[in-house]
Order: sequence, then C-alpha cells, then structure tokens
Amino acid sequence: TNRELILAFESSCDETSVAVIENGNKILSNVIATQINSQRRFGGVVPEVASRHHIEQVTICLADALERAKVDYQDLNAVAVTYGPGLVGALLVGVTAAKTVAFAHDLPLVPVNHMAGHIYAARFAGEIKFPALALLVSGGHTELVYLKEPNSYQIIGETRDDAAGEAYDKVGRVLGIDYPAGRKIDELAHQGHDTFKFPRAMLKDDNFDFSFSGLKSAFINTMHHADQVQQQLNQADLAASFQQSVIDVLVAKTMHALRQYPVKQLILAGGVAANTGLRTALGDAMEKYHPTVTLLKAPLSLCGDNAAMIGAAAHVAFQAGERADLTLNADPSLEF
Ligand code: KG4
Ligand code: ZN
Repeated sequence: TNRELILAFESSCDETSVAVIENGNKILSNVIATQINSQRRFGGVVPEVASRHHIEQVTICLADALERAKVDYQDLNAVAVTYGPGLVGALLVGVTAAKTVAFAHDLPLVPVNHMAGHIYAARFAGEIKFPALALLVSGGHTELVYLKEPNSYQIIGETRDDAAGEAYDKVGRVLGIDYPAGRKIDELAHQGHDTFKFPRAMLKDDNFDFSFSGLKSAFINTMHHADQVQQQLNQADLAASFQQSVIDVLVAKTMHALRQYPVKQLILAGGVAANTGLRTALGDAMEKYHPTVTLLKAPLSLCGDNAAMIGAAAHVAFQAGERADLTLNADPSLEF
C-alpha cells in the first residue's frame, strides 16, 4: 500500500506529545499532555520539573496515540522525534522513547528539528508551495526562514535578543498575567488602543533581523514610572500598544523580506502565530503588498508545541532519506 505511517514524539519544552501521521498530512492522532498548570506557579518552565513530567507522561501518550489512531507498531513505517532545539533534559525523554520504539520494532528513526516542525504545522492548512518564506514566531525563536525546496531551510533574519513570545511572557509578568501570557495579552489588546506608541525596533535597518528587548524595556519603564507617581495605567491600552508594536515590526520585516526573496508562499507558524491580531494584520498586508503570494497559516490548534507537526516535517525528511541511528542525542542548541 502507499499508506505511510509515522509515529512522532515531541518533548522539547513543556508539552509531551505523541502523534500518528499518515502521508505527512493526515492526523490519525495527536495526544498532547501539557504541564502548564504545574509550571505556572514558577512563572516559567523549570527544566528539571519539565523532564520529570515528560518521563511520567511519555508512555501514557504513546499508548494513547496508537490506540486513538487504531494502529499497531507493525503498521508503522518510521519513528520521528524532535532532537533540538529545546531543554536538554526534556528533549532526552522524547529521544530515548523514540529510539526505544525504533530499536524494539526495527523501524527507521527520523530526526526532526523542532523549528522545522513548527513550519510544517502549516501543512495541515494546505499544501506547501516552494520556494516559500516562513515567519516563525515562538517562545524561544523569532526568525524568517527561506525554504528553497522541501527539506531545505535557510535563516535570512532572526531576533538579536528576545523572541517575540518571550517578550509577551516577560511583559505579562509585569502585568501580573500568568505564564504563558501571550493569549491573555492578545485578548486584552482587543479591548484597548495603541495610545503608548512604544518603539518599533530596527524598522529602518536594511536587514531581516528583529529586536524585542527595547520594547520590553520601554514597557517596563512605563509601568515603573506610573507606579512611582501612583498613576493607574489602562491595562488594555498597555496590551494593545505592546501588541501593535510587535505586529508592526513582524509584518514590516516580512514584507521587506518578500521583496528580496520572491516566493510562491508565505508561511506563518510558531506559538505566537496563534495571535489573532498578527494573523489579521499579516493577511491584510499580504493582500495589499503581495497579492500573488499565498498565505498559509498554521491552524490555530497546531501553533503551539505538538507532535503532529513533527510527523509532518518528518514525512518530508523521511522521503529525502534522512535517518538517524541509535547514537542520536539531544541537541539543545540545534540550528537549521
Ligand atoms: O511555539 P511555542 O508553543 O513554544 C516554543 O517553541 O517556544 O510558543 C510558545 C509561546 C509563548 O511565549 C506564548 O506566550 C506565545 O507562544 N503565545 C502567544 C499566543 N499564544 C501563545 N503569543 C501571542 N499571542 C498569542 N495568542
Ligand atoms: Zn515550539
């Protein structure tokens, strides 16, 4: 048969996830166990706590993923796993689980870069057309990636300091919003207006790099100053102003990159791609400036970390002949 089934593992940060993906574009199962509830009280992800959670969850998720997909080990064609970037102890749990399954059932092992996975979450929204450009915005990364052809990734611009999601989470902390703060700030932003006019960093620079630490500092300084003079600031306006600054920079840099890199498609992916303001603003800008380039947005439910996206990226790598052996190790600072 030409039915290709890939079992995929993801454990790079705070979600343990196992999925079964058919032919790179059909989700038979995608089980996600999140630890957000136990990490929340620390205000971020504590690596040691994350590893312990993954160990507890991974075999449960595996059994669940196979059962929901109604497949058995002998139906599988390959096992895929995120081996970086991420927290080393967290990654190791997925890598060890995947290697164990590959060894026990004599299956090929496909190594996947977590960021390639995020890009391929968009595969579930439609076919990827090459060459493509991806705006990849997550908690750990903010980059523009050029995809000349399948399984080829070239970073053409990236953040010089904080990632966009990281800025959301740090600003959220000052606003007293639980980690991760992105979604809540997004909701709040829709009730306010851009009254603070925070800086838009590097907009005029002739490169595709980003910087969000200046915005974060401007935001925190504004809050501290108001505190000192005992002035109450409007939370919704603060959120709206912060969000507008992030969106303006992301959209402007992406439009700039599209002028230098003519592509068939723009892909929006990563945790921050769930941002409703960003999804709308990018859509509007594409219609206005690049109407012939299609915009493929990762489905809302697959913007955050999950194993389905790893399975989709693995399909392309598997077809290209990429294999790892049982010496595969976690690589916390893996790059494309
Ligand atoms: O991709 P992801 O799940 O994990 C990483 O690989 O980093 O991204 C998580 C990040 C967090 O910083 C979270 O605050 C942010 O994505 N995020 C959002 C939204 N939903 C999640 N940021 C802005 N708006 C959202 N709606
Ligand atoms: Zn991620």
